[in-house]
Amino acid sequence: MSVQEDRLALYELHGVDRTYGGGSQAVHAVSDVDLAVDAGDRLGIVGESGSGKSTLIRMMAALDRPTCGEILFRGTDIASLPDKRMGDLRSSVQMVFQDPRSSLNPRMRVGEIITEPLRSPLLRQRDDVPVDHGHRLREVMEQVGLPADKADAYPHEFSGGQRQRIAIARALAPKPDVLIADEPVSALDVSVRGHVLNLLRELVAEYALTMLFVSHDLRVVRHACDRVVVMRHGQIVEQGPIEQVYEDPQHPYTQELLAAVPTIRLR
Ligand SMILES: Nc1ncnc2c1ncn2[C@@H]1O[C@H](COP(=O)(O)OP(=O)(O)OP(=O)(O)O)[C@@H](O)[C@H]1O
Ligand SMILES: [Mg+2]
Repeated sequence: MSVQEDRLALYELHGVDRTYGGGSQAVHAVSDVDLAVDAGDRLGIVGESGSGKSTLIRMMAALDRPTCGEILFRGTDIASLPDKRMGDLRSSVQMVFQDPRSSLNPRMRVGEIITEPLRSPLLRQRDDVPVDHGHRLREVMEQVGLPADKADAYPHEFSGGQRQRIAIARALAPKPDVLIADEPVSALDVSVRGHVLNLLRELVAEYALTMLFVSHDLRVVRHACDRVVVMRHGQIVEQGPIEQVYEDPQHPYTQELLAAVPTIRLR
């Protein structure tokens, strides 16, 4: 098929399964998922606990492999790449996790944490990677609203919201194309969630990032995303533009989720 490179979806998933364990103990964490993500999409992924959201995005970040199916990233099936080549993708795709207390190394200084992805040997293969790490560090610290003179401090010297800003700065440092955020504000104090969300939104716009954003909170997804995927028992039960899905949900499970948040409707 002669499809132009720029016409390809950034991601195309076909029949993706991820099973943990085997026999009668097997857990079908993700089952038969088909999904296309275009460059610049801000895709929310919602669904109850255990529905397979984290498993799905971990595979899209090349941190895990499907049991079967294809995950095309710019037309290349990352599911069947050798480990060495998976690293190329990891340099374009960065993640922010739920809890910065566990995702940031407590024994590393903030400056080292943020610039660590820049020191990956895989990144040096990309020609748009910042080479002046000190300059890039100051730049991203400023962008996420952290005082640059705190680069020598350790994570425990920061508040929860600031720690998540450190995690965001780290993810942005290598100028990725895709930012994957797994419940990035749910471990934070309610009073700082809005600030961190707004920051993410601004940065996604500024860097023209493609974002995959997992959240239990449908309001947060509405705020941060323009498309949504609803997962249940490892499968996508509904997907579409936010307005369409939130205003006119087709699947009973989506209707149930939205009914639980009565103020969610857009109009
Ligand atoms: N490493 C693993 N080994 C075994 N089972 C796993 C593993 N990771 C996930 N699972 C199982 O796969 C299913 C999907 O888990 P997953 O973490 O993807 O769900 P989730 O939608 O992210 O849930 P949550 O909202 O609680 O984070 C669950 O039944 C979970 O117990
Ligand atoms: Mg999860």
